[in-house]
Amino acid sequence: MEQKKWWLDGVGYIIYPQSFLDSDGDGFGDLNGLRSKLDYLHDLGVNILWICPLFDSPMDDGGYDVRDYYKINPLYGSDEDFSRLIEEAHARGIRLLLDLTLNHTSIEHPWFKKALAEPSSEERGYYFIRKGRRVDGKLLPPNNWESFFFTSAWENIEGTDDFYLHLFSPKMPDVDWSNPKLRERYHAIARYYLDRGIDGFRLDAIAHIAKAPGLPDSPKPIDATGYVLDVDMYSNRDEVLDYLKEFDERVFSAYDCLVVGEAGGCISPERALKLVNRKSGPINMVFNFDCVWQNGGWESIGKKKEERQLDLVNLKRNFLRWYQVCHAEADMPLYWCNHDHPRVLSQYGSKQFRNESAKCLLITLLFLYGTPFIYQGEEIGMANPDYPSIEDYYADPGERSEVPGFRKRGYSEEEILDYLQRTSRLSGRSPIPWNRGENGGFTTGTPWLKLGEEYKHGINVLDEMNDPWSIINFYQYAILKRRLPDLNETVLNGELQFIDIDNPDVFAYLHDGTEKLMVVSNFRPYEVKFDFYWRIKDVVLHNYDSVLLDNHTFTLRPFESFLLKV
Ligand code: GLC
Repeated sequence: MEQKKWWLDGVGYIIYPQSFLDSDGDGFGDLNGLRSKLDYLHDLGVNILWICPLFDSPMDDGGYDVRDYYKINPLYGSDEDFSRLIEEAHARGIRLLLDLTLNHTSIEHPWFKKALAEPSSEERGYYFIRKGRRVDGKLLPPNNWESFFFTSAWENIEGTDDFYLHLFSPKMPDVDWSNPKLRERYHAIARYYLDRGIDGFRLDAIAHIAKAPGLPDSPKPIDATGYVLDVDMYSNRDEVLDYLKEFDERVFSAYDCLVVGEAGGCISPERALKLVNRKSGPINMVFNFDCVWQNGGWESIGKKKEERQLDLVNLKRNFLRWYQVCHAEADMPLYWCNHDHPRVLSQYGSKQFRNESAKCLLITLLFLYGTPFIYQGEEIGMANPDYPSIEDYYADPGERSEVPGFRKRGYSEEEILDYLQRTSRLSGRSPIPWNRGENGGFTTGTPWLKLGEEYKHGINVLDEMNDPWSIINFYQYAILKRRLPDLNETVLNGELQFIDIDNPDVFAYLHDGTEKLMVVSNFRPYEVKFDFYWRIKDVVLHNYDSVLLDNHTFTLRPFESFLLKV
């Protein structure tokens, strides 16, 4: 694949469309709402939008359950609205990446309906439909695999002994990529949208598109759900590379597009490099999961606060590991958060030091090696909304199926609520407050998901725009700096070194390139000392108004962060 570079001086922004801005009062964000904010995004300085799925969907899983790939979800608008969005984004120099789900469809997709209705149809072969096992008269799933939504990965087809495989919600049957006819269907879908002028894709859940041949039982022990979450069976298998190579040869290589895969399933940087290396990798970048959950939040139900501290050393080592493997040979995306995670301010930052920690997180991420992606709402320092009841979290199918398991295992209602408030991905999906008016100006109707309360107290776009020291104004300034050609050159091509990597509190690194750029960030809500032996030539970004440097020791206040030229 020839090298394509337009994203290398870009800053990305992730849109979860149903929560961005509603233009027609139905409580769901939509394309015209998004289109009306293109100037806002342009002024913020971002120029690549990854938009979560826009296709027609019954919305069991926020649109990742696709009913018709060739139709824009009517909740979001019309086909014409979509064309206008492309046109007006391009007029502002903003490129669009669509989110394409390849691992599954909705149960309402015509392929699946036909697969069930006509066992001899071609579409039957698009899915994994297998006979269950009869043990002592009881019908059991074909194997012991667990879904990512905490249940068996198999759903019985009513009135039969057959089951279909679903690694995510039971309303999202997995498709079989070993079937060449199925692959052609996806090639055609991608071509269709590229021909319409979009600039690339975020490929959803690509890690899981290949399954162990024969779908054998996992030999690993079953967990509390009674099944086995075994990534060896259905994640990052060798065939993923073959499928994507074919996709590239037949589709991507004919376009000047950016393709970013979502690679969960504990992918190693070495394996990821095969997918993304500039010479032979079929796609351009992968989002890995190693930078999230370093606060011990993952599976932390019932864990005490002391057991849930940010492991900063591990976080830095993860960035370093990916950098060391990828730097010379591949491009990388950077992110703290997306629609699948609680807000980063509540994970690694602090509501008490909201302004300082939001800016600290930004500086730290923005200047690491890679193309940064900001998640909507980060620019105003949104925190988790902390909904007051467990049911508030049932808008997500994952939470819906997780909670009964917790109850069975004896966790109290308080423990479950506390866990959901800290960890639910729904927290990252609460609608964007544009002002302090009703529903934060997000909708004139009833929002599909409640907003938190904070927008009433200044955490909204308008109030922040009017405050010169706000998070949003800092974002704009910092992104401007990040995109300056000389700084960009140093960030991408200078040699990255972590300074005092085993320091448990301070995230510090240096790019040694045309310039010497250094970031020093205190990731704690208290003061820490940090030894410093460089000569400061310029303070490019800083989230406090004075520098406490005495005799080669910085006194770093809570979440104090610098970008320095040294
Ligand atoms: C990806 C999406 C997530 C979705 C899942 C299944 O991880 O980001 O939101 O639930 O795939 O499509």
